[in-house]
Amino acid sequence: MTTSVQTIQNIAGTEPVEIALVLGSGLSAVADLVEDRVVIPFSQLEGFPGGGVSGHGRDLVIGRMGGKRIAILTGREHYYEHGNAAAMRPALETMAGLGVKTLLLTNSAGSVDDRFRPGDLMLISDHINYAGMNPLIGEPTDRRFVNMVDCYDPALRGKAKAIGERLGFSVGEGIYLWNSGPSFETVAEIQMAIRLGANAVGMSTAPEVILGRFLGMKVWACSSITNMGAGLSSENISHEHTKTMAVQGADKLKRLIPALVEEL
Ligand code: HPA
Repeated sequence: MTTSVQTIQNIAGTEPVEIALVLGSGLSAVADLVEDRVVIPFSQLEGFPGGGVSGHGRDLVIGRMGGKRIAILTGREHYYEHGNAAAMRPALETMAGLGVKTLLLTNSAGSVDDRFRPGDLMLISDHINYAGMNPLIGEPTDRRFVNMVDCYDPALRGKAKAIGERLGFSVGEGIYLWNSGPSFETVAEIQMAIRLGANAVGMSTAPEVILGRFLGMKVWACSSITNMGAGLSSENISHEHTKTMAVQGADKLKRLIPALVEEL
């Protein structure tokens, strides 16, 4: 058992945690919905996201949502912070150690498809690992050869779509292209992403999906669209803009995620 599993169980109890949720830029308010909450700063947990990116939380929140026990990472660590694609591995291994079987991921992303506008949610149906990095490089066992077909669980996607319809907003599906960042894409790179078949671009999530599948978890991921990709609109792309625009997506995720968790 990892040290962090022990630390968390000492503080929050040993009842298994079924679901883990990772919150992206500007989305940490989703954690406000957790009942019977215990908040543990990442700084007290070995291997959890350090450093930090503005707009991300720095706590693990454990409690109940929709009657289930859930652990929420209010922020994440990105490849672009240091060049380590496996930065989230210790935290996700800790989640597995707590009993997590379902991993829910969120992020802020730029759309390269007119169907998805700022303020919309896009369920990720698949990804293109354009950063070319992989969190399993160096993993010595044959478990490293992870099958990525249907890595974004089709049943969970179906449930989320139906919930969106019920709640009165559309949650379409699309392909997420992972760029390392931290610079945003060039106009030419956005045109390339369109030609490659992507619907949105972003700087996170894909490594966590690979790790989640490696750990045997069901994975679901949703982008909150904060802007159109470079050159597709006159808005000025910046991290400040991402954080401001994320509020709209956060409001939708605050309605979608509890309903999804309840149905799991
Ligand atoms: N590109 C990459 N990452 C992003 C973007 C973008 O346009 N918007 C929010 N995260």
